[in-house]
Amino acid sequence: MNNTKNIVVLVSGGGTNLQALIDAQSNGQLGCGKITCVISSKADAYALTRAQNNGIKTRTLIRKDYADIVSYSIAMRDALIEEKADIVVYAGFMTILDENVCNAFQNKMINVHPTLIPSFCGKGYYGLHVHEEALKKGVKVSGATVHFVTAECDAGPIILQRAVEVLDDDTPETLQKRIMEQAEWKILPLAVQLLCDDKITVVDGKTYIK
Ligand code: GAR
Repeated sequence: MNNTKNIVVLVSGGGTNLQALIDAQSNGQLGCGKITCVISSKADAYALTRAQNNGIKTRTLIRKDYADIVSYSIAMRDALIEEKADIVVYAGFMTILDENVCNAFQNKMINVHPTLIPSFCGKGYYGLHVHEEALKKGVKVSGATVHFVTAECDAGPIILQRAVEVLDDDTPETLQKRIMEQAEWKILPLAVQLLCDDKITVVDGKTYIK
């Protein structure tokens, strides 16, 4: 029998992916996981309100309060240790943390990215911009990916992906919405459940799901 795992969710914005996790938890779909804290890199992120509305502890760790990414990453690592995080989920978290965090939480930290990695990913590809680029390129299929976080942006082992059709009249906004609804909000809670229940192994940079 597994013990409860503390899930700490990192956010920067609206928090619809956080909401999907909260809803999954309410429906008993996070396995042994429990969301114990939400940490935001922005003071005005609506994700903080979503957490508070659901009785979840919140913290803010503002990127601009730190001189560089090294000191910010160390502060984040210390906060995660303080919160006794077993699993860390980036849910629209827009800062790339360095190896101080990634090494401390190797194969315990996951991110949702709104494309099919390795397309439209890496530094500079986030939020609405990725959908603008996908439409510019004329791809017929896009989607979302959940992957482990490593120090290299969007390059960690892929856990789950789901494809979503691109329509001729899509705007970045409509594509973003469909990818969230059909892919992100489904595969992120599922990946968290699999991780909490120790169902994911990583061998040579690839994941295998039991
Ligand atoms: C989501 O689409 C998420 O995949 C994306 O930002 C949005 C956040 O929305 N993340 C990235 O682009 C990270 N590279 P949310 O705050 O409503 O969950």
